[in-house]
Amino acid sequence: MFIANWKMNGSLPMLFHWLEEASKTLDKSAQKKCILCPPACFLYEASNMIKGKELSISLGAQNIDSTVIPSLTGGIDGVMLKELGAKYVLIGHSERRKFFNEENQLLLEKLQSASKEGLRIIFCIGESLKDKEEGKTIKVLKQQLGILNDAGLNKFMVAYEPVWAIGSGEIPKLEDIENIHKQIIEEVGSFRKEGFLGVLYGGSVDSFNSRQILSLKGVQGLLIGGASLECKEFCNVVLGNNQN
Ligand code: PGA
Repeated sequence: MFIANWKMNGSLPMLFHWLEEASKTLDKSAQKKCILCPPACFLYEASNMIKGKELSISLGAQNIDSTVIPSLTGGIDGVMLKELGAKYVLIGHSERRKFFNEENQLLLEKLQSASKEGLRIIFCIGESLKDKEEGKTIKVLKQQLGILNDAGLNKFMVAYEPVWAIGSGEIPKLEDIENIHKQIIEEVGSFRKEGFLGVLYGGSVDSFNSRQILSLKGVQGLLIGGASLECKEFCNVVLGNNQN
């Protein structure tokens, strides 16, 4: 899978051009592997454009609010996301963990809320630079994965995104990516197998490094931030048009 995470970027004209470009560049089978996650305010329009152009790209939301919170000004729950056309949702992205203090209890509630509505989950995990330097990467990842054990999930993927690699232009050594994916797969497999759709890598992915990363064992897809904003670059990643 190739997931385009636009974060807080985009506009209606950009959405239109992006989907236009994607429809010209990607055939149906390539489109089927793509999940576009624009800001929530563009989901509905994106869904209409996708239907109008008969594209096979899926939509994902970048966040979901937990229905456990009884009254939440500004909240958007899973029912609403589905109505807007989302089939997937990102949960646990490091930017939400950091800036919104999203910790395990809240993330668990979000996982449960998304699952209840049948949304497919992309659960993001990753170690900080400090964790890495202290040799705690695997320990931290296992702690973050732990809540999947309690969540009773529908269908989910895990996105491994080292926090220090996001937006930095740096990626881990390829053997580290492979080894960490292997350990994540083993860890998730040790407590649940049903509904597990595999592990993706995210963090400074672009068309220069994507082919090499995708060729690693256990890497089932890519979560792409900055490089997904330009549709041409995103399509290069999807099509494996390596610039190297
Ligand atoms: P990046 O972001 O590709 O810009 O590093 C990835 C992400 O945060 O999901």
